Amino acid sequence: MYRSRPKGNLEPESLNFMSSLQVDNEIASYDILGTQAHVIMLYEKNLLRLEILKKILCELQILRRNPKQLEMKGCEDIHEALETHLVKKLGIEVGGRIQTGRSRNDQVILDVRMKARDEINSISSKIIILIERILRKAEENLDSVMPLYTHLQQAQIGNLAHYFLAYSEQLFRDLERLSFAYTGINKSPLGSGPVGGSTIPIDRKRTALLLGFEGLITNSIDATSSRDAILELMSTLSILMVTLSRIAEDIIIWSTQEFGYVEIADNFASTSSAMPHKKNPDPLELVRSKTALVAGNLLTAITILKGLPSGYSRDLQDLKVVFLNSLSVVSSSLGISDAIIKSLMIHKRRMKQTVLDSYASSIDIAEQLVMKKGLAFRTAHRLSGSLVKLAISKKMVPLSSLSKHELEPIIVETSSHLKVEELLKILAEVTPEKSVLLRSSEGSPNPVQQKLAIKLLKVRAQKYSDKLAKRRKHLNYALDSLENVVSSYTKM
Ligand code: ARG
Repeated sequence: MYRSRPKGNLEPESLNFMSSLQVDNEIASYDILGTQAHVIMLYEKNLLRLEILKKILCELQILRRNPKQLEMKGCEDIHEALETHLVKKLGIEVGGRIQTGRSRNDQVILDVRMKARDEINSISSKIIILIERILRKAEENLDSVMPLYTHLQQAQIGNLAHYFLAYSEQLFRDLERLSFAYTGINKSPLGSGPVGGSTIPIDRKRTALLLGFEGLITNSIDATSSRDAILELMSTLSILMVTLSRIAEDIIIWSTQEFGYVEIADNFASTSSAMPHKKNPDPLELVRSKTALVAGNLLTAITILKGLPSGYSRDLQDLKVVFLNSLSVVSSSLGISDAIIKSLMIHKRRMKQTVLDSYASSIDIAEQLVMKKGLAFRTAHRLSGSLVKLAISKKMVPLSSLSKHELEPIIVETSSHLKVEELLKILAEVTPEKSVLLRSSEGSPNPVQQKLAIKLLKVRAQKYSDKLAKRRKHLNYALDSLENVVSSYTKM
């Protein structure tokens, strides 16, 4: 179709190598919409006759309803396929006009931006669903006391709700980053031509409006060859995957027999071809590995871009491939994460037992000695540490079971100047079970604070949901209006 200067057809090997058709089906519908907007604008600017516009729009509508009719064979990409189809159906005098004042270079990035817009909205809505699910889980697990971990060693006592609340905070930031990326993406590059605009008096603002964009990427070099908005989105997607991957990792660890805190539902677990007892969290492991794919895609995109001269180069086609891949991986990873969390079984008793067997309340004991007896924190830390050492040497007895005569030498050794009765009282009060109730700092796992946090986070989720609905409404309104304009011409 495009070979006005080169002689003959492309070598099949070369055509195959250059083709982007394997991924272009993902942007095909946007290519048609973009073409509709473009020819309507050409007509409005007296650059196309009405009967030609009608013919093109009718054929594009047929294709929209039945995309399979689009013959791809022999074409390098969706843009060539679309023009070839129109020329074949309507003749060159009609079909051969769609590329007036436009090039594949502004066309492809238009399609990619339109696809990105829709995907950001759909991914955002999946995040909101996941956040709401996690907040419900937090509510159900305010009483699920468990150790909180650092270095994957028991650290302080908390509850499962605290992990869920942490996940939702992270996911909110992912949402925020996506919303920021949306603003960068939602600008029209159409009408920039191959690199330097056009002598044809097109109206770029009109096509941007018809396609629901908030303004233009004005500079024609920038519009056709910058991909920083895509990189920004890919970074955001990579960070989101890191959030999902760390959630997956927690669940993977907690579902081992050694921890036994949670269990994923059977219909999400894989098994072993050899060991009949196995119940493996494979989908979560794949969320972990897919995070590497998405992060790798980002690095691929950055590496493709960093050495390119300004202006379009075909390398950008491969950037499109990894970008589309990231969108689809993120979307499916969110779906599976939500489904697994939804059906997650929580073994509260097992968690509680671990807490009862742990010495993770030792920091609370030290803090109570500071608060109630005025000890320097370091002295209290030494005292509490010595108690733990002694309890461990006595085959892991609880701290509250240590006797008066066992405590006395430790008080002397650590120069804590306490009456032994005072220490006994604190040990009796600060049990692992009561530990979280004594916590008062903002953001700690005290259930009173957590209830407040859940309330606020739910309001925030609703706000995001409203914001997203507004964004979608605006986009749908624009595309419905375009549809109305199209049918006003096709029905003429
Ligand atoms: N298939 C190409 C891509 O995906 C479309 C743009 C081709 N432009 C060009 N000047 N060869 O990027």
